[in-house]
Amino acid sequence: MHTTLTHANDRTSCDFLIIGSGIAGLYAALEAVHYGRVLLVTKQRADECNTRYAQGGIACVTADGDSFEAHVADTLAAGAGLCRPEVVRQIVSAGPARIQDLVAMGIHFTTRGEMAEAGEVTPDASAFDLGREGGHSQRRVLHSGDITGQEVVRVLLEKCRADARIEIWENQIAVDLITTRHVNWQRENWCLGAYVLDPATNRIRTIVSGCTILATGGAGKVYLYTSNPDVATGDGIAMAYRASAEISNMEFFQFHPTILYHPRAKSFLISEAVRGEGAVLKVRRGGDYAEFMQEYHPLKSLAPRDIVARAIDNELKRGGQPCAYLDIRHHSEEFLRRRFPNIFAQCLEFGINMAQDLVPVVPAAHYCCGGVRTDINGCTTVRNLYAVGETACTGLHGANRLASNSLLEALVLAHNAVAHAVARRQEVPPVALDAIPDWHSGEARNSDELIVITHNWEELRRFMWDYVGIVRTNKRLERAKARARLLRHEIEKYYWDFTVTPDLIELRNLASVAEMIIDCAMARKESRGLHFNSDYPVHSEPPGKDTVLRRPVQVAIWTE
Ligand code: SIN
Repeated sequence: MHTTLTHANDRTSCDFLIIGSGIAGLYAALEAVHYGRVLLVTKQRADECNTRYAQGGIACVTADGDSFEAHVADTLAAGAGLCRPEVVRQIVSAGPARIQDLVAMGIHFTTRGEMAEAGEVTPDASAFDLGREGGHSQRRVLHSGDITGQEVVRVLLEKCRADARIEIWENQIAVDLITTRHVNWQRENWCLGAYVLDPATNRIRTIVSGCTILATGGAGKVYLYTSNPDVATGDGIAMAYRASAEISNMEFFQFHPTILYHPRAKSFLISEAVRGEGAVLKVRRGGDYAEFMQEYHPLKSLAPRDIVARAIDNELKRGGQPCAYLDIRHHSEEFLRRRFPNIFAQCLEFGINMAQDLVPVVPAAHYCCGGVRTDINGCTTVRNLYAVGETACTGLHGANRLASNSLLEALVLAHNAVAHAVARRQEVPPVALDAIPDWHSGEARNSDELIVITHNWEELRRFMWDYVGIVRTNKRLERAKARARLLRHEIEKYYWDFTVTPDLIELRNLASVAEMIIDCAMARKESRGLHFNSDYPVHSEPPGKDTVLRRPVQVAIWTE
């Protein structure tokens, strides 16, 4: 670890505090390092993040036949009347510069030459090989084989580790943000840093920062079945909410249609790029396997994700089947191994040869389209607090994210947030390290009833899946709300009575995020994009309105 920060006992100060180590956090660190001392805090190993599991790639206009207008139009169409068009335009057109930057850093995107058959002559061998995914009118997804996220994290993390001005604290979990309320300032709500728990010593450190950037990723663990890793517990969204930042559009949780269905496969994604290469969805009907997506959408298996996930859910419930199937047997084993080396190998490990067998799949929670409400610079409604990546709700995704737009958004927002923070640094009120009170743990003692955490965690994820999943009703939402309220009271009591642990912090955050999803879902009196409530018809007239939450819990609908 480097020693470029100011440390005093359990107090530390830095210019940029970045919480989270996915693409948004790492990229923000590399941008910020030119302007000051950076502290990056992450709750597990730095390479354990949602980004690492991203297979498909980064959507960006790079090909001659493509255009910003087409990418914008596809994004707006998927977003079902809730995208902010100017935000979409700015993010889409900022993409190529960010991709150039990644390439300059050494990130490798698969080229057409690498995808050519043995002996085949490819005219543009060095051009990017572009993948296609649901809702895109063009091939425009840059990818590194089928492990794009892993490649991105590898290179960005190597760069961060190599820079002595970036200090990385692994296995340290943020407990709460520090705001001007903690120092009783009678002025606007500013973020001053964060309290961070070191589980190895049980100490909670006070970090004071010139600027705080939340890059904590998503919240897939709020659902029983998810493609997300265990770290995706909505920490940034919950902390920002507790700090009174506005939270928006939490009802729009994206379910990925194709997670591998196998007892030994833990949340393994079968990328949408597989359908982009022609795989079709099938279900068992009678004694046979039949295509069904033609009954739901003209784009069939490549329809937008909300439609595909809902169609599978409907088919499985109707036919009493445990899973649907992907059929990509029209491609040779040689092609599949070259295009999807990781997916092919994983399936084979479970006895499925994609060139010969159908691949069993089910939908699972994948991406949180809502989050901490920001502008195009990642500014939240709390001064000096930025949110970037999946934690943020910028207006790019609207009611349904277009595939592979998330990594693009993370890069552009991380870049913008740092530039904005640097331009405004003179406005930040000076805060003396010793003006901030220590974390107050009161009479908390060690718990001997850890079963409470395990039980509540399981109960929460189960009722969220059953009542607030792909298809909702008013009754189910009311049931979920009653349970969520009970759990919140129980968890809050437990939280203040016992010493905080990473599990307890995550559970508290998840319970808070669950309630936000339910509150936003109850406020939306229509079906739109990813939010499908069978008591309401699908919206008829875009543009729609955002749901907004701000502590103390108030849900209001407002128009742009
Ligand atoms: C996938 O590869 O199917 C996931 C891509 C995404 O979620 O954007």
